[in-house]
Amino acid sequence: GRFLDSVAALGEQVPDRHRTPERYPAGAPHPGPGRFVSTPDTDPAVPENRTWARDLLARVPGSTLGSATIDGAWLRTSSEVDAQVTGAREAAVAWAALPSDERARVLHRAGEVLDAHRAELLEVMAAETGKTIDQGDPEVSEAVDFAHYYAELARDLDHVDGARFTPARLTLVTPPWNFPVAIPAGSTLAALATGSAVLLKPAGQSQRCGAVLAELLWDAGVPRDVLRLVQVDEDALGRTLVAHTGVDRVILTGAYDTAALFRSFRADLPLLAETSGKNAIIVTPSADLDLAVRDVVTSAFGHAGQKCSAASLVVLVGSVATSRRFRDQLLDAAASLVVGYPDDARTQMGPVIEPAAGKLLSGLTELAPGEHWALQPRRLDETGRLWSPGVRVGVRRGAPAHLTEYFGPVLSVMTAADLDEAVAIANDVDYGLTAGLHSLDPDEIATWLARVEAGNLYVNRGITGAIVRRQPFGGWKRSAVGPGAKAGGPSYLDGLGTWRTATATE
Ligand code: ALA
Repeated sequence: GRFLDSVAALGEQVPDRHRTPERYPAGAPHPGPGRFVSTPDTDPAVPENRTWARDLLARVPGSTLGSATIDGAWLRTSSEVDAQVTGAREAAVAWAALPSDERARVLHRAGEVLDAHRAELLEVMAAETGKTIDQGDPEVSEAVDFAHYYAELARDLDHVDGARFTPARLTLVTPPWNFPVAIPAGSTLAALATGSAVLLKPAGQSQRCGAVLAELLWDAGVPRDVLRLVQVDEDALGRTLVAHTGVDRVILTGAYDTAALFRSFRADLPLLAETSGKNAIIVTPSADLDLAVRDVVTSAFGHAGQKCSAASLVVLVGSVATSRRFRDQLLDAAASLVVGYPDDARTQMGPVIEPAAGKLLSGLTELAPGEHWALQPRRLDETGRLWSPGVRVGVRRGAPAHLTEYFGPVLSVMTAADLDEAVAIANDVDYGLTAGLHSLDPDEIATWLARVEAGNLYVNRGITGAIVRRQPFGGWKRSAVGPGAKAGGPSYLDGLGTWRTATATE
């Protein structure tokens, strides 16, 4: 009926709403079925793109950032939760019955629509979460890439000899606020590609980002009854939603503790969770130290350190630890970062999502025995959200600053006599998400690659900003709960449904 018509009626034109053709290159049409090409980020060297960026920043407020609630999405009672679950499950039947090519067409279209609305997405990310354009722009590219990549992967699910993929009927997607477009887009598009219906529950701090994303996916032809935007307050009703037996699978990206909480709501919950990180970059005496300084600073302080992938430990080996050169350059570079709000084009490091409190505040203010600030974080205004970067030295093995994920702009410097000790320090943590090594010695690189306990390993480069297909993203240990599938990787969709084989004797 209406739903199949809405899929069939997709025109060739991207909707004009907020279209921003001034960016170069403008959102490019997808090259066609069977091909995946990474979407280019906006090139700030092009003068038109700087004008484009200035125009969109003029619409972003300064220090009065924050989330607005999306009234239409709020579920207030258990029966409203039930109605959404039941309605989505009903709609899933027709969605799953479409040929995978048809769903792929909608996803490719979604990629084009997201790219064409890049400015709108950057604006809402900046206004709602404080994300600067340089951080938000690759995030939009990633969302676009997820659409095109999962469209193609889903097609392959139909072509596995002897096995048949059966999608989940309903997937609940609970993304975080720190990548408020790419992560909800990736999880939602993956589930949709397989033929599942989706309840998308954005983080409370980034509800508008979630709402804009949902609007764009609907504009692209995803039926409204198949993708539903929902919001619940996170205690009683959140529990009802997660524990609902009509929810077949939950894709969570968030803290490890949240994954544990979800499991406590429902022990047999099929959960695919990408969780916390406490990630180390090791720098050995063979490293190019200038390069290492640059990569440590961008990995530690990009998006004010609010990435599960961020470097929050740097382990200096041997003479890198004992000479002053690396440390002095690191402190100079960190201290020179321009801290501000995203509406100011000069800002290199933006605010944290909420006034620093709890674990983050302790990470920004408290020292354990032996520690001191080589660069002390300072609260820069009355909002409690704007902090200058901090570098803590003298951190001992097992100290809170060694093991705790603070999720903010604060870096711990540790030292090791040799690479073995450095790897042991990196592996002491409960998590295993990203890891970095700066070394120009092939034996050191091989040793580190063999021993370091992390899912995404980066040699002589920064450790954030994984790219779809090139660097499938996801960790082990307490950085993943569930099958540990890699987002943006070739087997991600496999974990979102059930594989069945049938044998008959004739
Ligand atoms: N996928 C994000 C990154 O790699 C978290 O930084």
